[in-house]
Amino acid sequence: MSRSLPSGTHVAPSILSADFARLGSQVQEVLDAGARIIHVDVMDGHFVPPITVGPLVVAALREQADAADAALDVHLMIERPERQIAEFVKAGADSVTIHAEATPHIAYAVEHLREHGVGAGVAINPSTPPQALAEVAHLIDVALCMTVNPGWGGQPFIARSPGKVRRLREQVGPQTAIEVDGGIDPRTAPLCREAGASLFVAGSAVFGSPAGPGESFRAIAAALGPV
Ligand code: DX5
Ligand code: ZN
Repeated sequence: MSRSLPSGTHVAPSILSADFARLGSQVQEVLDAGARIIHVDVMDGHFVPPITVGPLVVAALREQADAADAALDVHLMIERPERQIAEFVKAGADSVTIHAEATPHIAYAVEHLREHGVGAGVAINPSTPPQALAEVAHLIDVALCMTVNPGWGGQPFIARSPGKVRRLREQVGPQTAIEVDGGIDPRTAPLCREAGASLFVAGSAVFGSPAGPGESFRAIAAALGPV
């Protein structure tokens, strides 16, 4: 089995800001608007204060994602993520991102992801320097640069993030996709793209916007130009 995120530039709607009472129809709206990556935020109440969802929700979205040829991008904001990888792979994750701050065993966790045949990502918090990825850059598919502090949707974009994305690009080289997450909207996405990002997670700007998820997704994609 080999799964991964699609290559190229993508806006990845984060279901964190969706209406969970009608999750299926909300996700369908963004799939119909062209989304090919759905971002699932997993929080454990330890690494970050909130608790969100687990493998059950990944499994619940799998068939719908398959029908649209879309990938499930699982962002683990949990301590000791290496202990949960097998469950999320079994549930149908195409790519799993762990936090560099959440385990002393990043390399082991990344190798574990590779053995499972899914995309391997490592995320860094705003206070973690790009150098934290120096020894695993050659092993990972995705470097996720948090552009807010993890834990909540709807926070303002940290203004110094594009500079950090540039330094991260130098650190990880051209082969690794850079994903940005937090405060991404039609204004901030292009700033991150110029700095070297190609994956743009957006929660509240997609599911919390009055225009509705489909149109709001398209507005961010249009701000990034032809993809
Ligand atoms: C925050 C999560 C994000 C969140 C982003 O910790 O990792 O994926 O959904 O939300 P917005 O786009 O509203 O900043
Ligand atoms: Zn996320």
